[in-house]
Amino acid sequence: MQNNFQSDPRLYVALDLPSIDLARDMVLRLGDTVKSYKIGLQLLPLGGAEFGRELAAMGKNVFLDFKLHDIDATVEKATRSIAKIGADLMTVHARPDVMRAAAKGKGPKLKVLGVTVLTSLDEQALIDIGYHHNAEELVLHRVRQALEAGIDGVVSSPLEAAKIRSIVPKEFLVVTPGVRMAGHDTGDQKRIATPSKALQDGASQIVVGRPITQANDPTEAARKIIQDMAK
Ligand code: C5P
Repeated sequence: MQNNFQSDPRLYVALDLPSIDLARDMVLRLGDTVKSYKIGLQLLPLGGAEFGRELAAMGKNVFLDFKLHDIDATVEKATRSIAKIGADLMTVHARPDVMRAAAKGKGPKLKVLGVTVLTSLDEQALIDIGYHHNAEELVLHRVRQALEAGIDGVVSSPLEAAKIRSIVPKEFLVVTPGVRMAGHDTGDQKRIATPSKALQDGASQIVVGRPITQANDPTEAARKIIQDMAK
């Protein structure tokens, strides 16, 4: 590694791995190269929340991506519990009542993100669910509701980041998965951008999983992404 290499806390590595031991090995392997991690539903039933506490104690930024969606009281209390772990970011589904409840429970450090529209939903899927907006209209509608609810940001595809950025204050977070280096395997991600493009379009943080965790040399892969972010 070059001596002048600087990590970038805006890169959250998604630890979508089958066990806590494998996730811990990945974190140790990436060392000082990566400062921020996302723990999602795959690790949650295996002790993912407790592992988040371990990462916070190591000085890492922790994003608990549990996509809460429940009655107000439950969302508020679950949000308080996540705040106690020492997480920096968490997600709820972007319904007004759910977002307001999370805003009540979050405390000073934890920031709450609304998941606007899952990138796996296409126009037909939205019609089947019963929505009357297309994906872009629905995303922007929910961003406005997120602002009203008093949460801190949203998760969106990088392709929507610029439109969102144009209607929100600069401190509002726009966190984008679906990030790939040019010419690399896109996997099942359809709406993608490179790290530098996602940031130029207004993303405040990016989430990258498999391009790092499945690479032969994860540290080298993370380093290339961080270098691209600096462009
Ligand atoms: O491996 P990859 O870089 O595709 O991982 C992206 C991460 O972002 C995964 O943890 C995935 O669940 C998450 N995510 C996503 N699209 C969304 C919301 C979350 O890919 N709309």
